[in-house]
Amino acid sequence: MAENVILEIDDKKYNLPLIIGTEGEKGINILKLRDQTGCIAYDPGFGNTASCDSKITYINGENGIMRYHGIPIEQLAEGSDFIEVAYLLIWGKIPTAQERRHFSDLLTDNALIHENLKSHFEGFPSSAHPMAMLSAMINALGCYHHDLGKIEGEDELGPEQQLEVLAARLISKIRTIAAFSYKMSRGEPFIYPDPNLRYVSNFLHMMFSLPHKHYEAMPEVAKALDMILMLHADHEQNCSTTTVRMVASAGANLFSSVSAGVCALWGRLHGGANMAVINMLQQIHDGGLNAKKCIELAKDPKSDFRLMGFGHRVYKNHDPRARILKGACERLFTKLDHKDPLLDIALELEDLALNDSYFIERKLYPNVDFYSGMILRSIGIPTNMFTVMFAIGRLPGWIAHWREVHEAENMKIARPRQIYTGNKELHYVPMAQRQGVSPIESK
Ligand code: ACO
Repeated sequence: MAENVILEIDDKKYNLPLIIGTEGEKGINILKLRDQTGCIAYDPGFGNTASCDSKITYINGENGIMRYHGIPIEQLAEGSDFIEVAYLLIWGKIPTAQERRHFSDLLTDNALIHENLKSHFEGFPSSAHPMAMLSAMINALGCYHHDLGKIEGEDELGPEQQLEVLAARLISKIRTIAAFSYKMSRGEPFIYPDPNLRYVSNFLHMMFSLPHKHYEAMPEVAKALDMILMLHADHEQNCSTTTVRMVASAGANLFSSVSAGVCALWGRLHGGANMAVINMLQQIHDGGLNAKKCIELAKDPKSDFRLMGFGHRVYKNHDPRARILKGACERLFTKLDHKDPLLDIALELEDLALNDSYFIERKLYPNVDFYSGMILRSIGIPTNMFTVMFAIGRLPGWIAHWREVHEAENMKIARPRQIYTGNKELHYVPMAQRQGVSPIESK
């Protein structure tokens, strides 16, 4: 295998080194491109740009492969759980029984949010979107825990232990914040975490219990939600993770970096798609659209309608997470004897799309959002909380990437360049002289 590639510009040849990843992916190292050639690389949307090297998640979009630290997602979905996967992502290994117990204890110890922080919820209108509250509250959380804003070992804890406490605080408190924002939107009293419950059951308890009525999650329900979180836990350089890394690269603390990630995730082309899928299915159900019309609209170049939950920047084959969730959804519905007309519509849409040349040619398959919403809906999670569930799931990945940025030997502030396409130099004319001429006049 060659170690360099040759780039030719105006009859001049330049040698650019090749970088090869563990799984054989090749990248052209353009670190010196501008110095050597005077050119920069142009890649809007970063579709062909590796912004970093990372050991966390491997995705092969052509073959529908996804692994966390080398372990296939299918195996984790089968035998692991969200907290073990969170540990794996951040520390790069499956925890021993003792490490797992210690981390679980830290999660339990950190489940409460500061009492003063509760009053922040009162400042939001009851109609506030839970993603707006989540982002704001995570940033506000940083005001209460600035002591652990760095992992440079400034107090009695070493950097590893500091990170462990920091990670446990965020992973535990994010679910309390999410559940409190739901309670706030309903005008119901906050329900405090129960230290005897496991991560997901505790979240569902805070969401659905009332002072006079305890909610106990069925094991199948807790397992399905745990699986959703696990499958969302990381997905390498997606939009929100790249945002976290970019903010972290400026030296920002974990809370601010994650808060920015929540905002990026909210967008409808990213984590917001799970809400959009259900809205689309609901529209079809209510008669505003039908499945065939939906497919036609998605194919129409004049319409900006997209089949939500379909297509992916990286997967040009089945999204392995969607496959696992489709099975989990069918199993859960059978177990609960739950019927949802939206599932039938989803299956019909999937069938139509997978047999349509437009979708086949463009390699558009259902992504993780296509089925996650069906499960969340059956559990009773309101649609506007779907992306919050995604954020809770994605948090360990964000933490792992934040850590990687901080520990990278070649850490650099993220600062892309651009191809400027605006005005050439113009001459500014002061107000007093502008009589009848445009405020800025060409030189
Ligand atoms: N419905 C209809 N057409 C689509 C869809 C879709 N869902 N997705 C892509 N296409 C078409 C585009 O119109 C384009 O067609 P063209 O070549 O004729 O112009 C072609 O497929 C390529 O699409 P791009 O937008 O260039 O692909 P990109 O990689 O930039 O976008 C994205 C990926 C944003 C996920 C896109 O597929 C999409 O908008 N999907 C719907 C939203 C969605 O489900 N997002 C969740 C993604 S997964 C996640 O974030 C967890």
